[in-house]
Amino acid sequence: MRSLLFVPGDSEKKLDKGFASEADVVIVDLEDSVALESKAAARHVAASFLIERHGSLKPAVYVRVNDLASGLTDDDLAALVPARPDGIMLPKSNSGRDVQHLSAKLRVHEAENDLPDGAIRILPIVTETAIGVLSASSYAGATNRLSGLTWGAEDLSAAIGARTARDENGRYTDVFRLARTLTILAASAADTAAIDTVFPDFRNMCVFEAECAEAERDGFTGKMAIHPAQVPVINAAFTPSAEALQHSAEVVAAFEAAGNPGVVGIGGKMYDRPHLRLAERLLARAKTLGIVPGK
Ligand code: COA
Ligand code: MG
Repeated sequence: MRSLLFVPGDSEKKLDKGFASEADVVIVDLEDSVALESKAAARHVAASFLIERHGSLKPAVYVRVNDLASGLTDDDLAALVPARPDGIMLPKSNSGRDVQHLSAKLRVHEAENDLPDGAIRILPIVTETAIGVLSASSYAGATNRLSGLTWGAEDLSAAIGARTARDENGRYTDVFRLARTLTILAASAADTAAIDTVFPDFRNMCVFEAECAEAERDGFTGKMAIHPAQVPVINAAFTPSAEALQHSAEVVAAFEAAGNPGVVGIGGKMYDRPHLRLAERLLARAKTLGIVPGK
């Protein structure tokens, strides 16, 4: 999953538009983009939309439920699990225990809806509370439902009382860089994907492109979008380039040809085991995207 597009769950028009986009995943939102008085209506609109079109939607379907402390999660799950989403996004996750808690709830809902145990994946937002940031390592081994870890800056700002998340040059301040960094490390420790957060300034494509490139450079393999226009930019940034794949294939071939040693020379440069691992990683990611190097 490269691009994950948020769509407010109470807007049938936006649901239509979102699912017609090239997003790999549409996140049907029941949380922050839906007002408290519209929660019940949003569950109904979203569930009817998804049930009617089940099997005919191209993007994968994730539902962002309300957080476990909201008192709304159970009603969200009861309304949306019958629509057979591929995954649930858990906001304001405080630790691996929260995803285990959600996992236990999902087991019950899966059983009630004749779905196999474990069918629904979980994508938690792990930096929306202070304790969440400080517990990032707890996702490792928490559940095999994890499809990735992602992070968010807005709720963390509110939680800690930071007036802004970015400095006058648009760069995240230290607390938010830490949250972003811990997401990458925690995802790696949990052997799952690191997904970058949203960029709310949706008309500013120049900065958005740069932010996508930076995220890909740093180890994120996808990014969330809030507007359909952001989707193609994300897909381009997170699709491994033909050159990068060609190079990775050459590295793997060079190790194989040399009898899989610790180190080889390619074009006058040293390549050792970490280079091989990185090359294999990129090729594996391309494979999941259906890309064959050299084609
Ligand atoms: N999903 C689906 N369709 C969307 C969309 C989205 N996330 N964002 C915009 N669109 C649609 C609009 O409805 C509009 O459709 P129309 O041409 O049929 O009227 C079209 O794309 C162009 O939108 P635009 O005029 O550029 O933006 P807007 O002012 O209508 O919407 C937002 C701006 C921010 C309200 C909208 O992008 C949005 O709702 N984003 C998602 C917010 C969200 O889910 N937040 C929670 C996660 S942080
Ligand atoms: Mg939020």
